[in-house]
Amino acid sequence: MVFEARWGILATGGIAATFVKDLLRDAKARGAEDIKHTVRAVASSSSKERAEHFINETGIPGPCAAYGSYEELVADPNVDIIYVATPHSHHFQNTMLALEAGKHVLCEKPFTVNAEQLEVLRDVARQKKLFLMEAVWTRYFPVSVQIRDLIRRGEIGEVLRVTADNSVGANPEEDWGDNHRMVNLDLAGGALLDLGIYSLTWVFQTLYHTLPVDQRRPPSAISSYVAKYPGTGADEDTTVLLTFPTTTPTNNFKPNRTSHAVASTSLRLASNPDRRKTAGPAIRIQGTKGEIQVHGPAYRPEGFRLIPLVPKGADPNSVEIKEVENPFPDNGHGMYWEADEAARCLRDGKLESETMPLEESIQLMRVMDEVRKQAGLVYPEKIESRSYPLNL
Ligand SMILES: NC(=O)c1ccc[n+]([C@@H]2O[C@H](COP(=O)([O-])OP(=O)(O)OC[C@H]3O[C@@H](n4cnc5c(N)ncnc54)[C@H](OP(=O)(O)O)[C@@H]3O)[C@@H](O)[C@H]2O)c1
Repeated sequence: MVFEARWGILATGGIAATFVKDLLRDAKARGAEDIKHTVRAVASSSSKERAEHFINETGIPGPCAAYGSYEELVADPNVDIIYVATPHSHHFQNTMLALEAGKHVLCEKPFTVNAEQLEVLRDVARQKKLFLMEAVWTRYFPVSVQIRDLIRRGEIGEVLRVTADNSVGANPEEDWGDNHRMVNLDLAGGALLDLGIYSLTWVFQTLYHTLPVDQRRPPSAISSYVAKYPGTGADEDTTVLLTFPTTTPTNNFKPNRTSHAVASTSLRLASNPDRRKTAGPAIRIQGTKGEIQVHGPAYRPEGFRLIPLVPKGADPNSVEIKEVENPFPDNGHGMYWEADEAARCLRDGKLESETMPLEESIQLMRVMDEVRKQAGLVYPEKIESRSYPLNL
């Protein structure tokens, strides 16, 4: 039996279009024979015409309703799950709107502006028995799944250090200007929440998520460097140093050992300046028996290299370096893997995804809260608020 997930798209911006185009690709091309995605409705906060335009541009087949308000979208009985694709400033209000209307939600990253907002969403979703997940698509890539498996199997030994960078080499003044959502404080702009979340995703999915659930511990120390964008005061260059009171794959093994990570992000610097891999891997996961290097970009990994440690006295040519490419069926962007996961959770009656549990999204959000606190980076009160409904 093929399960049909009926999507409602909340917002008509850049990532909503990319997500919808991926949703509409043939699931069989990626071996997902058990599920089917349909887009049943699209809403724009500006006008019904804008939603209609989006439906035409992305080629959504009928029946698909167009709405000029998010309220109408969440009331549509033909929709099971809402994809929230507004700026992060609006995620809390928009996700609450959908949950209150009894809809499941897949919400773009970062989930909210702060951890307390997310705790409210978690509680409401649980109380209403609705599925809720942060759209951290990177975690569902085949290479991410393989890397977590390699770590769990101890292929690189005890993992003690991870470095992860997600820097995009932009010129904020010329490329965007001060009102753009990437630097606009009213829209929760800044490198950390938008891009640094991927560096932290690599840290968490390797050092934290690879442990059995009952052995996962949040970072015991967090320190940070933050440089601010002169135009607005949003962070433009941020580095976070994290200590975990655990090592992976099994914390039981060495109870007193710690591991650490360096997660960096920058608007102006580039992880891969010449786009030819000259700069080396964006992510390094280092263990006592070798390391895994991930070719960026951090949000859309193209592949990885597994380099075993050459034992002392051994011929360096005696170890085999493994290169793995990420498959992109149909040249898609890669957002369908997270959508497939959401659909399977709905089918199986699961309220969370085990690969991106709400508890872990909250831990990650707490790290970002702490970095912002250390830097004195405060957003306007109304977008930090847990009050609902608020007119933003
Ligand atoms: N997963 C990824 O790879 C990825 C990539 C890019 C962005 N994102 C995330 O997706 C979210 C949206 O990013 P985006 O690049 O799609 O942004 P965008 O192109 O600016 O689109 C945002 C959309 O949100 C709606 N919106 C509602 N209120 C708004 C307001 N006050 N200001 C601006 N837009 C408003 C608008 O659509 P309507 O009013 O027509 O509904 C707008 O088109 C962000 O949270 C971002 O972090 C994720």
